Amino acid sequence: MDGKFDFRYQLSTMAKERLDPTEIGIMIKLAIKHNAISLTAGEPSADLYPTEELKEAFKTIFDDLSLLGYAKEDFGLRELRDWITDRMRADGMIPDWVTSDNILLTNGAGEAIELVAETLIDPGCTVLVEAPTFTETLLTFRKQGANCVGVPSDDDGIIPEEFEKILKKRSVRFLYTIPNFQNPSGRTSPLERRAAILEIARRYDVPVFEDDPYHYLSYDGEPTATYLKLAGDDRRVLHSNSFSKLVAPGMRCGWLVVPDAIIPHLNAFRVSAGLTRPAILQKGLHAYLSGIDFGKRVEFLRAAYRERRDGMLRAIDEHLAPLGVRTNRPKGGFFIWGEADGVDDMTALARFAVEKKKVGIIPGSAFYTMDEAKNGRRSFRLSFAKVAPETAGEGLRRLAEAFAEYGAR
Ligand SMILES: Cc1ncc(COP(=O)(O)O)c(C=O)c1O
Repeated sequence: MDGKFDFRYQLSTMAKERLDPTEIGIMIKLAIKHNAISLTAGEPSADLYPTEELKEAFKTIFDDLSLLGYAKEDFGLRELRDWITDRMRADGMIPDWVTSDNILLTNGAGEAIELVAETLIDPGCTVLVEAPTFTETLLTFRKQGANCVGVPSDDDGIIPEEFEKILKKRSVRFLYTIPNFQNPSGRTSPLERRAAILEIARRYDVPVFEDDPYHYLSYDGEPTATYLKLAGDDRRVLHSNSFSKLVAPGMRCGWLVVPDAIIPHLNAFRVSAGLTRPAILQKGLHAYLSGIDFGKRVEFLRAAYRERRDGMLRAIDEHLAPLGVRTNRPKGGFFIWGEADGVDDMTALARFAVEKKKVGIIPGSAFYTMDEAKNGRRSFRLSFAKVAPETAGEGLRRLAEAFAEYGAR
């Protein structure tokens, strides 16, 4: 002790648990430390932020000085919520019952996940997730005390029969799914799968929480219908989404479509999590969105990321596929999922790759619950979001060397 208070006896169990860095954080740091080509990042590419348009739009934010006070609307700036509702309606994403009263603006989709966790999870209850799934969600649900159970998934996402098998055995609070271009696996559930899962959810009376921040980043055609829309008037689906990938993550603006039955509950947790969200930012974002052709913006992003995806797939075909390492071919989003049968400890291989070959990847176990982490020992995630096709070639060449040499060691 150096005489300074160290909080040793005050730290919550969860605070101590969260102190363990995630494998994602470790690999991102190692990639920087070793000056490696990083295929780790799960974030959008800064060169695609609409900086000039945002600068212009944000000039208007002080036109209404009342925005400097606490927000007047519980769920956030009404005109932005109207914009979201109109957009989702035009794009066929919402059923008739959704109006801007159901749109809660959040501090990114991350906060939407946090608020849903507070609203629907009691310590010890079971929540079903995809296996693998988004690590931050696992940590958030766990913090709330949930017992997260992974539903076995294949390249089309959750396997309906497996979902039903679990529901037969145990009582479940809700299913969390990222149906489009999933983080980390890049997988998308086709329409028939979604319909089958909804039908099972109805039979067992389970709600579905759909997290869809990659929805618009679809590179081979229009995105599949949302669970929210497919469920129609049944109102068992909560849907989170975000401007992080469409505009810029620093905006910290996401939204949650909230069924009427739980509007008061979500509102109560919103208040306790920080009274209000920055209406000034919401105003600037709305000014930006109203001044652009959103369809064109989406097309621009699709073209840019499609080129990166295709560049990485070509590099995979050239360098990795000949070694027998299998990867999928995602139709959108940022991620490619790979599996190597001959590897038993992808975490060790990822460390070897970053230290000796200067290429960073995320090992699959980072995306499973602690109990199920061994299911990720042969898999890995690659992100193409920030990787130019030329860099992908060199990155995959290095990665192939790591696989070949690691296997030989
Ligand atoms: C599946 C998924 N959900 C939610 C988020 C959180 O996004 P944000 O809080 O920036 O909107 C991410 C970010 O990577 C994600 O991949």
